[in-house]
Amino acid sequence: MYPFHKNLVLFALSGLLSLINGNPVHQHDTRRLPWERTKSTGFGTLTTTSSNNGTILRVLMDNPPTNLYDYKLITDLYDLLSFVVPENLTVSAPPPKVMIFASADPDFWMGHYDGALFGTNPPFNESYTEELFTKNRAIVGMLKSLPTILIAEINGRATGSGNEFLVQCDMAFSGPNTILGAPEVAVGGVHGNGGIQHLVRLIGMQRTAEYMLTSSGIDALTAAEIGWVNRMYRSETKLRGAVDEIAGRIALFPAAGLNGTKAMIREFSAPPSTVEADIATIFRLEAGEKAPDAEYLRISKNQSRHFELGVPDNMVEIWD
Ligand SMILES: *[C@@H]1O[C@H](CO)[C@@H](O)[C@H](O)[C@H]1NC(C)=O
Ligand SMILES: *[C@@H]1O[C@H](CO)[C@@H](O)[C@H](O)[C@H]1NC(C)=O
Ligand SMILES: *[C@@H]1O[C@H](CO)[C@@H](O)[C@H](O)[C@H]1NC(C)=O
Ligand SMILES: *[C@@H]1O[C@H](CO)[C@@H](O)[C@H](O)[C@H]1NC(C)=O
Ligand SMILES: *[C@@H]1O[C@H](CO)[C@@H](O)[C@H](O)[C@H]1NC(C)=O
Repeated sequence: MYPFHKNLVLFALSGLLSLINGNPVHQHDTRRLPWERTKSTGFGTLTTTSSNNGTILRVLMDNPPTNLYDYKLITDLYDLLSFVVPENLTVSAPPPKVMIFASADPDFWMGHYDGALFGTNPPFNESYTEELFTKNRAIVGMLKSLPTILIAEINGRATGSGNEFLVQCDMAFSGPNTILGAPEVAVGGVHGNGGIQHLVRLIGMQRTAEYMLTSSGIDALTAAEIGWVNRMYRSETKLRGAVDEIAGRIALFPAAGLNGTKAMIREFSAPPSTVEADIATIFRLEAGEKAPDAEYLRISKNQSRHFELGVPDNMVEIWD
């Protein structure tokens, strides 16, 4: 018999009702310590609010202290995206036409992969890593195939996995506090999830090389000028207003045309095989020459907020 999980069903039901009623779904987890690696339930780190009769879903990411792409955020994004796949919403509501990803923290939009999940740091173990990479692959697949138009509303840092996520959204708009970039090269790793291949399509090979190889952050204005994001707004309020207006306009139109247009554009995005190749490279590098993950955790004082505010530029401190 199929293992039927009562809580999951109850949760899914309450989430669906909230989506329909336009109420935020917020399972607030009060035990969110930086080093806690427990499995979160539901969309613990994500608050969702639906509007325009369920056609727009605003997702607020809130995973203190720095919105790290860790066990919780990966699991919650996986759960949320699985929940809005058309197959899971056939009951009484179509999937939202537009999803907006914003952050509750003005300094961090979405962080890099949790450095403590690599190497020999607890709670690293193979089944844990396998579970995360499986969910991660599924997230990347869903970003590409969901009929929903995905908008990244960025203010604050989007580095490493955060950048990989934003380049896979259908559009990205940024506020003045934005810093984009990737720290992986500094710990002997690579930017993954097809992030580099997507970025090359956005800004070209040589700019991608410069930013990826130097572990340098890029500010909002420059990012907008070179096409890393669609546009920059001079205040958080203007950013949010503009994104809501764009989402509202898109949501007026029939879902079929939106999905068809997205699918045609996506033919030019990095193919799924790039994600597998990136994961293979990550594991090969981790297994090879000892990567300085432990040194990064030491220097960063376990990925403290203070250190993370300077990532990716301050990654040179590992080698100074
Ligand atoms: C609201 O959404 C429902 C479900 O898709 C639809 O049946 C209904 O016509 C919509 N109402 C308005 C006013 O657009
Ligand atoms: C529907 O949701 C369930 C539970 O969240 C998930 O396991 C399943 O993969 C989803 N279906 C699809 C087609 O993604
Ligand atoms: C490994 O991680 C899984 C979670 O994916 C957990 O259930 C299991 O207890 C862990 N095993 C050890 C030996 O820590
Ligand atoms: C969206 O478009 C793709 C590609 O044409 C198609 O395979 C898929 O079934 C469409 N999904 C929906 C919900 O219309
Ligand atoms: C970082 O975490 C490790 C493992 O939990 C702990 O032993 C160490 O004391 C922490 N270091 C700092 C600076 O917080």
